[in-house]
Amino acid sequence: HLKSSSVSYLFFLLLPPESGIPAQVVAAIDINTTANQVYRHNFPDTPLWNKTIEGISLDDFNKLSFDMILMSPPCQPFTRIGRQGDVQDPRTKSFLYILDLLPRLSRLPRFFLLENVKGFETSSARDLMVQTLKDCGYTFEEIMVSPTSVGIPNSRLRYYLLAKISPENVGIQTSSEVLGAFSRHGESDSSEQPRVMAPTNPGTCQPEEEIQRGRILYKLETTTDAQRKENQNNDLSVRQIQDYLEPQSEINMELYLLPPKTLLRYALLMDIVQPTCRRSTCFTKGYGWYVEGTGSVLQCSEETEMKSVFRGLDQHSEEDKLQRLLKLKLRYFTPREVANLMGFPQSFSFPAQVPTKQQYKVLGNSLNVVVVAKLLRQLVS
Ligand SMILES: *[C@@H]1O[C@H](CO)[C@@H](O)[C@H](O)[C@H]1NC(C)=O
Ligand SMILES: *[C@@H]1O[C@H](CO)[C@@H](O)[C@H](O)[C@H]1NC(C)=O
Repeated sequence: HLKSSSVSYLFFLLLPPESGIPAQVVAAIDINTTANQVYRHNFPDTPLWNKTIEGISLDDFNKLSFDMILMSPPCQPFTRIGRQGDVQDPRTKSFLYILDLLPRLSRLPRFFLLENVKGFETSSARDLMVQTLKDCGYTFEEIMVSPTSVGIPNSRLRYYLLAKISPENVGIQTSSEVLGAFSRHGESDSSEQPRVMAPTNPGTCQPEEEIQRGRILYKLETTTDAQRKENQNNDLSVRQIQDYLEPQSEINMELYLLPPKTLLRYALLMDIVQPTCRRSTCFTKGYGWYVEGTGSVLQCSEETEMKSVFRGLDQHSEEDKLQRLLKLKLRYFTPREVANLMGFPQSFSFPAQVPTKQQYKVLGNSLNVVVVAKLLRQLVS
């Protein structure tokens, strides 16, 4: 993999308990040291392979004998602002490798879930994948989902492909066995659970839907922007940001308040939310480090009206400007809070040696656990 990796561990959080699907993870695969550290910390008993997908032979895949494959292949080639290299891009290598391997497996996995950024749906990589799945006898469904659709106040529009092997292609399995869902067939293993292999490929996803390049948010925002935000905040099917925050008293504010330099320089570009809001923008791997388009910041002082701070801001001296901006008490969401918005369970934690910046990075590369869990339930139902 040429690019750092996404978080494998997500997939494993999903099964069980998050998805409610009784399953056993047969292998977690990633080459990224940070992602692997975090994974091992949370799932010390799951086999974790520090490998690239291309580094695993057909033989080794066959030995795993899995029922479900979950993947989030490198998505840089598919992002609107990334290079449009698509299948020519070397980063697609691991993805193509899986497609090449799939028809040659001694036993086809029954379920397949792939996540990617918006834009993948029009790529030739997607066409190749769909063709391979059809050839192998899968039926499939493609959907775009954002966590807001499951009531989480965070935008993260992603492409998902859910595929299931058609009953007539299950080979030796009888239909009742298929309906019986999770027991394994033709294996000496006594386990009653499906075996899941989840390659944990890079998923560095660029900011998407609400990042319109070159456009200035809020302060000079268009009426359309303002209207959209208002509509989002009025959507009672989505919870409030405050439900995802850590107790203020437990947060070391020094670490998360936006420094003066950042305020002065980027105030007009930041997406600011209040605890009562029902929206936030997509958190990306640059969060906590770069301000523009990497995710919303939180206004901690609710008495101060944002409009009054920003009105005519540019007519003030730097010092006055800063004093006004400081009144808002703007801070970054903590990694725990980002994890909450990403649907990670409370049981999830980072190992002590992983620095905050790396925590934001792996979270920014991650998937929303609640969304994927829901899709998995739909897939196996
Ligand atoms: C692992 O991933 C992190 C975050 O995605 C990245 O910053 C880091 O450079 C990667 N490390 C390696 C060894 O690939
Ligand atoms: C994982 O593999 C990479 C690349 O081969 C290597 O640099 C790294 O040290 C390995 N990590 C562990 C924990 O073995």
